[in-house]
Amino acid sequence: MADQLRDKVALITGGCSGIGLGTVELFVAEGACVVVADLQDDKGAVLEQRFPDRVRYVHCDVTQEADIAKATAAAKEAFGGLDILFNNAGSGGAGAGIPEMTVEAWDGTMNLLLRSVMLGMKHAIPLMRARGGGSIVNTASIAGLISGAGSEPYSATKYAVVAMSEGWAQQLAPMNIGLSVLCPGYVRTRIADSARARQDRYGGVQPVRGDSFAAAGSNVAQSVAAGIDPDIVGARVVEAVRDGNLYIFTDPRFRDVVEFRFAAIRAGFDQAAASPALKSVKAWAPLTYPPPETPQ
Ligand SMILES: NC(=O)c1ccc[n+]([C@@H]2O[C@H](COP(=O)([O-])OP(=O)(O)OC[C@H]3O[C@@H](n4cnc5c(N)ncnc54)[C@H](O)[C@@H]3O)[C@@H](O)[C@H]2O)c1
Repeated sequence: MADQLRDKVALITGGCSGIGLGTVELFVAEGACVVVADLQDDKGAVLEQRFPDRVRYVHCDVTQEADIAKATAAAKEAFGGLDILFNNAGSGGAGAGIPEMTVEAWDGTMNLLLRSVMLGMKHAIPLMRARGGGSIVNTASIAGLISGAGSEPYSATKYAVVAMSEGWAQQLAPMNIGLSVLCPGYVRTRIADSARARQDRYGGVQPVRGDSFAAAGSNVAQSVAAGIDPDIVGARVVEAVRDGNLYIFTDPRFRDVVEFRFAAIRAGFDQAAASPALKSVKAWAPLTYPPPETPQ
């Protein structure tokens, strides 16, 4: 890992806490300069004091395009450009009870966990192209590959982040921009009380299942508390960027759970193969999918 990050410039959203903070500290220790984009101004000020030459804090609500434009511009102003984008800011998202769901809470989850990823890439890519390339890490979750009851809006965004990362990885490769999608298992962070960072216009804290991670005593909250340390996730991010991995996993235990979903999907194809309804199709045209150069 030595020198891989030396003098690189990174933008890390949600860098004041949890996985983002662990990654900021690791990047700085490896010699990178980091723009931290977050809502927690007090913690951002502390980071600037700790690393005066290496960190700039920008107050940035990642749901707002103008704020993201400001954060990417800060990378150029403070450090001359941008090499790495870590789209990481997030929360547990809206609770999943359909009767209690509000449009505001739904839209807030989509804007924070999905639209922000697109906006970050949109504004970072021109700066990376000006440098001849770069690396992007989009944070999904293992919940982007398996969906359990109780966090459906969260999972919907994370599946979408995986899907769009798989596609954009192919589009960006010719520009010498690597793209990885981070799918952590449980990480010991404050995400279970992340409703603290949610603005009122997104519904604030709902009284009923208001945050998918936050339900008191929920299995998810307990699993997060027993999760791995955020700086280990930061180290995985660095490994994966170096090696050009598309998928970044942090918890090998979930392999069997993902396999279980794949087995259910395969069973669906077996049912289709035996389907009387499909027997009327005389000949299937050859498929041109998947594309010839699928990133590893
Ligand atoms: N902790 C886990 O177990 C886990 C597992 C899988 C995926 N993730 C994902 O990791 C990412 C980071 O989460 P974490 O666990 O470190 O949580 P965290 O709550 O510790 O950190 C999230 C950071 O994002 C910031 N943030 C929230 N809303 C923001 C906004 N609108 N604009 C800018 N910054 C904002 C917060 O202020 C905070 O600093 C999230 O995308 C989350 O979905 C976490």
